Amino acid sequence: MEVLIQPDETAADELVARLMMDTVRRHPRAVLGLATGRTMEPVYKAMVEAHAQGEVDFAACSTFNLDEYIGLTPDHPASYRTFMNQNLFDHVNIPIERTRLPNGVADDIDRECVAYEAAIVAAGGIDLQLLGIGHDGHIGFNEPLSSLGSRTRSKALTPDTIARNAFAFANEAEVPHRAITMGVGTILDSRWCLMLVKGASKAAILAKAVEGPVTSMVTASALQLHPRCTIVVDEAAATELDGCDYYRWIWENEPEWAPYRSG
Ligand code: GLP
Repeated sequence: MEVLIQPDETAADELVARLMMDTVRRHPRAVLGLATGRTMEPVYKAMVEAHAQGEVDFAACSTFNLDEYIGLTPDHPASYRTFMNQNLFDHVNIPIERTRLPNGVADDIDRECVAYEAAIVAAGGIDLQLLGIGHDGHIGFNEPLSSLGSRTRSKALTPDTIARNAFAFANEAEVPHRAITMGVGTILDSRWCLMLVKGASKAAILAKAVEGPVTSMVTASALQLHPRCTIVVDEAAATELDGCDYYRWIWENEPEWAPYRSG
C-alpha cells in the first residue's frame, strides 16, 4: 500500500485522473472499476475534458461500477447509473453497452449478483478499481461487519449511510435501505486498487483504514491485504496519519511517481 499525499484537492483529483487515463493509454482495452460519490465528480470531469481535447480514447474500454441501490430504476435521478451517465458516460466514448452497473431492479437479486461476478470474470477481471471511502470506512457499500471475503451481494445500509446519502433524494425516507455491492473479495481481486480520499471529515477513518488493524468493522482496511493499492489523499485527509514523513519520502523519491511529480 502506498499513500500519496497531495497539496490540495485539485492536485489529488488530477493525479487520480492521470493514473486512470495513463492506464487506458497503455492498455486501451482496460477494464475499469468505477465508483460514485462526490469525491469522484472532479476526477470524471478531468477525464471528460481530456477526452474532449483528444488526449484519451475510451473506445475499447469496459467498466464495472461498485454498486447500485436496490429498488431504483436506472433512470431514477438518484441511481448510480444516472450519476455515471451524467458525470462520465454521456461525455466520453466508452460504448454504453460495455458500461455495467448492478441492476437494482432485477427480479432475482441473488441471480443478478452471481451474473455480475460472472461478467467481471468474463471481461478478464478488473485492471484498475477506483475507490472512495465512506465515513464508516466502507468501500462500495460494504458496511461494517461485511465479510472480507464477500462477493457481490445485497447489503443493508447503516442508518448513518442512509442519512449521509439522502442529499441525492427528495428526502431521507426515499433512500433505499439496501444496495447491490461488489464484495470486499471482489474488490481485492482487482489488479490495482486506487483510492481517493479528500477532506478533513475523512481524516480519522482514513487513518483507521491505512494504519489500523485489518477489520471487518472498517472494510477499507482490507486493502492492506492487496498487493497493489495506491491511496491518493489531500493534506486535509492526511492529518491523522502517523507515517506521513515516510509517505512523503515515497512520493518524492520513488521512480514510479517521477512522471507525476512535475505536475
Ligand atoms: C457511497 C458509495 C461509496 C463512496 C461513498 C463516499 O456510500 N457507495 O462508493 O465511496 O459514498 O461518498 P463521497 O465521495 O460522496 O464522500
